[in-house]
Amino acid sequence: MTLVLTIALAKGRVLSPTLKLLSDAGFAPSEDALKTRRLIFPDVKEDVRYLLAKPVDVPTYVEHGAADIGIVGKDVLYEAQADVHELIDLQYGVCRLVVAGFKGTDVQSVRKVATKYPHFAKEYFGGLGRQIEIIDLNGSVELAPLIGLSDCIVDVVETGQTLKENGLMPLAEVAQVSTRLVVNRRSYQLRAAEVDAVVKSVQSALTKGALA
Ligand code: PRP
Repeated sequence: MTLVLTIALAKGRVLSPTLKLLSDAGFAPSEDALKTRRLIFPDVKEDVRYLLAKPVDVPTYVEHGAADIGIVGKDVLYEAQADVHELIDLQYGVCRLVVAGFKGTDVQSVRKVATKYPHFAKEYFGGLGRQIEIIDLNGSVELAPLIGLSDCIVDVVETGQTLKENGLMPLAEVAQVSTRLVVNRRSYQLRAAEVDAVVKSVQSALTKGALA
């Protein structure tokens, strides 16, 4: 079998619905991606292989052509500012990017914002005409206001449980995000037929899922 396409899958919360979508679209990864420690493995039916990557790295793999296709959240995609072709809004992994902090915090007067989303944060506060200091963090961002490192955070909220358990609350919405299928620009031109076949299968599975 000739290897045709490489698909980078984001580990973490969108992996499970991504695997369901791939299965509905007729793909069959040779490994259980939720359990395996292998980072690269083929499909047993189609001429594709999969890379399992940290979400923040998926845009990089696709931009540089290490993967032809990537499936990753719009939040990560926008932050990466990667030069990739965004083809499908897969409409799962929907969550909100919010400014969050202690009750009563005035969003118009914050100075320090802790986040792993500096682009979103700068754009949002820039839109309010505010210059802010970004505190770059990589996770557990909710800690920052708790220990006085920042006035608030910009972060994703899914269930709201993390904010609640840490005595914080959403103060303003920055954006709604969902999972996207992206394609390397060169692959989109040079492997148009193969990319198109994957895209069609995925789109058809999405439509069937939506109608079910
Ligand atoms: C994300 C986000 C919040 C949490 C929100 O973190 O940064 O901390 O999920 O989810 P919830 O609204 O359902 O509670 P993630 O689990 O990706 O880990 P991280 O803190 O290490 O980034």
